Amino acid sequence: MRGIILAGGAGSRLLPVTTVSSKQLLPVYDKPMIYYPLSVLMLAGIREILVISNPEHLESYRLLLGDGGQLGMDVSYAAQDRPRGLADALRVGREFIGDEQVALILGDNIFYGHALTEILGRERARLDGCTLFGYQVSDPERYGVATVDGAGRITSLEEKPARPRSNLAVTGLYFYDNEAADLAAGLKPSARGELEITDLNRIFVERDRARLIDLGRGSAWFDTGTHDSLMDAGLFVQILAKRQGIRLACVEEVAFRMGFIDAGQLAVLGKAFAASSASGYGTYLQDLAARA
Ligand code: DAU
Repeated sequence: MRGIILAGGAGSRLLPVTTVSSKQLLPVYDKPMIYYPLSVLMLAGIREILVISNPEHLESYRLLLGDGGQLGMDVSYAAQDRPRGLADALRVGREFIGDEQVALILGDNIFYGHALTEILGRERARLDGCTLFGYQVSDPERYGVATVDGAGRITSLEEKPARPRSNLAVTGLYFYDNEAADLAAGLKPSARGELEITDLNRIFVERDRARLIDLGRGSAWFDTGTHDSLMDAGLFVQILAKRQGIRLACVEEVAFRMGFIDAGQLAVLGKAFAASSASGYGTYLQDLAARA
């Protein structure tokens, strides 16, 4: 399975913060936002990742993540010349996807939960068609909204409905069979000129090949598109860091735990951070490596 992180868009709801910076590079407490969706794909065992962003921001992502080799991964980059819609990511990434299944994640989505790794691995293994991940929210009209039957099959899917049929928001993580890339290429742009992800997902629903996994109450999901939601996500990460001494979405740690790099490589990364910064990030990695 290949992974795509969609990290473009205008970030207009965060202006002037996003005047010169890509939204998905903004800090969420102690890390760039993109580390959070990146770590989700890594926890699903995905090592080949395509980062899609606006042409003017691609170089910043390259400086941040390089070719991914330091994490035992392969990271490549592609431009989306304007916000053509979420499903457009599969068109931009067509060649990258090749014959594989694909996981698409939005660069501003943050997931947390103790069962997350298990859920991701299980759903990847049994993927057939498309698998969406749902989360109960108090304001479903802001999101894609699904209803499901007892077996987890999606029975309806609507984008930002004025009268939602459930409280189950569709999060920005999507697992697809290879045919999704062809289906996305055949989509018609919506009234606002975008290839809508909900239109793509509805094709799978109509074919009875769409499942939704409810992430449940023991997990957290944030999208960070507004000043308040960005702050909420940062505070959540800060609370976990202070209370438990854990660093959420530390990509070097995830790479180590997933076996992409070994303790020696982790120690080298920790040493480099510790030598150039007193942020504590380097010593955190060095301690992990020493305990291994
Ligand atoms: O966060 C989950 C929600 O994401 C889902 O519940 C909705 O079904 C889905 O449509 C999407 O809704 P949003 O209102 O959050 O979509 P938005 O247009 O804001 O785009 C989400 C992110 O993707 C945002 O960070 C910008 C980026 N983006 C967006 C578009 C349209 C791109 O990189 N390229 C694009 O062409």
